Amino acid sequence: MASLKIKAIFCMQLLPLLIGAFSVIRINGSWDVEDGLLRRQTGHQREFDYFKLSLLWPGTACRNTTKCCSSNACCRSNSPSIFTIHGLWADYNDGTWPACCSGPQFDKEQISTLRKPMKKYWPSFSCKATSTCHHEKGSFWAHEWEKHGTCSYPVVHDEYEYFLMTLNVYFKYNVTGVLFEAGYVPSNSEKYPLGGIISAIQNAFHATPELICSGDAVEELRICFYKDLQPRDCASGSIIKSGRVSSGSCPQYVSLPVVNGSGGNEQVAGFGLKLCFAVHLLLIFAFI
Ligand SMILES: *[C@@H]1O[C@H](CO)[C@@H](O)[C@H](O)[C@H]1NC(C)=O
Ligand SMILES: *[C@@H]1O[C@H](CO)[C@@H](O)[C@H](O)[C@H]1NC(C)=O
Ligand SMILES: *[C@@H]1O[C@H](CO)[C@@H](O)[C@H](O)[C@H]1NC(C)=O
Repeated sequence: MASLKIKAIFCMQLLPLLIGAFSVIRINGSWDVEDGLLRRQTGHQREFDYFKLSLLWPGTACRNTTKCCSSNACCRSNSPSIFTIHGLWADYNDGTWPACCSGPQFDKEQISTLRKPMKKYWPSFSCKATSTCHHEKGSFWAHEWEKHGTCSYPVVHDEYEYFLMTLNVYFKYNVTGVLFEAGYVPSNSEKYPLGGIISAIQNAFHATPELICSGDAVEELRICFYKDLQPRDCASGSIIKSGRVSSGSCPQYVSLPVVNGSGGNEQVAGFGLKLCFAVHLLLIFAFI
């Protein structure tokens, strides 16, 4: 009992000391404690202005696929027919952006609990490794964390927070849902007015997106956010001038191509499911 009391008193005396020490560290602005945490960026790296959530259209990203491997979502039997995540980027209002800020290297263990949604909604569309910030090659996720995630301090403090926050923003602002609802659905024959796509996003989120095209196919759609994750216009967003809309490299009429062989094709997916079901039934009967 007595020793407990002593401990409690000791503890209470220690508290102000700790608070004091912590404030000194904060004032000096350089704590490089604890692995996995982003450090305060000093001097050379100005704090970013806003976030840009960059989304990929798989039907376009997969057009040039020639090589297949397990990491390439183009090759999945159920490759996605929704916009998937490219990355959440920290940008400046002047159109430039910071990259490869100080921070720990990618560690896949830190996001092991996010693996399932990450594989589904943030897949790679290539077999090639991408460059990381440490003159090495790494996964798509490693590239996004090291190049962009590390620059999102002080909103983001570590790798787990970066990926979780990006997934949450992506789920909250469902670009695919907004476009489908407005009638802009995957198709290899339809062409849609660029202005219509931009208006649909503006009406839903009260912010102007930015589009990137490859030929007339939408390759990326980007939506932007303040640091508190409220939507805002992208700084290099779409421009409407004398009746003509321009955004990135996109023409006035654009397409949302279907992924070859599978994506957007309900019949194939439905057939796959039925086949799977049938095989399971057969197996069950075989064992009875
Ligand atoms: C596909 O390849 C063509 C020709 O090399 C290129 O112009 C186009 O940008 C590529 N598309 C994508 C989505 O990478
Ligand atoms: C997709 O289909 C087009 C036209 O049918 C074909 O030229 C192209 O090679 C296909 N790409 C893949 C990845 O299957
Ligand atoms: C968004 O909406 C589409 C179309 O309604 C739906 O298929 C999808 O599951 C929704 N969620 C995400 C994260 O895309």
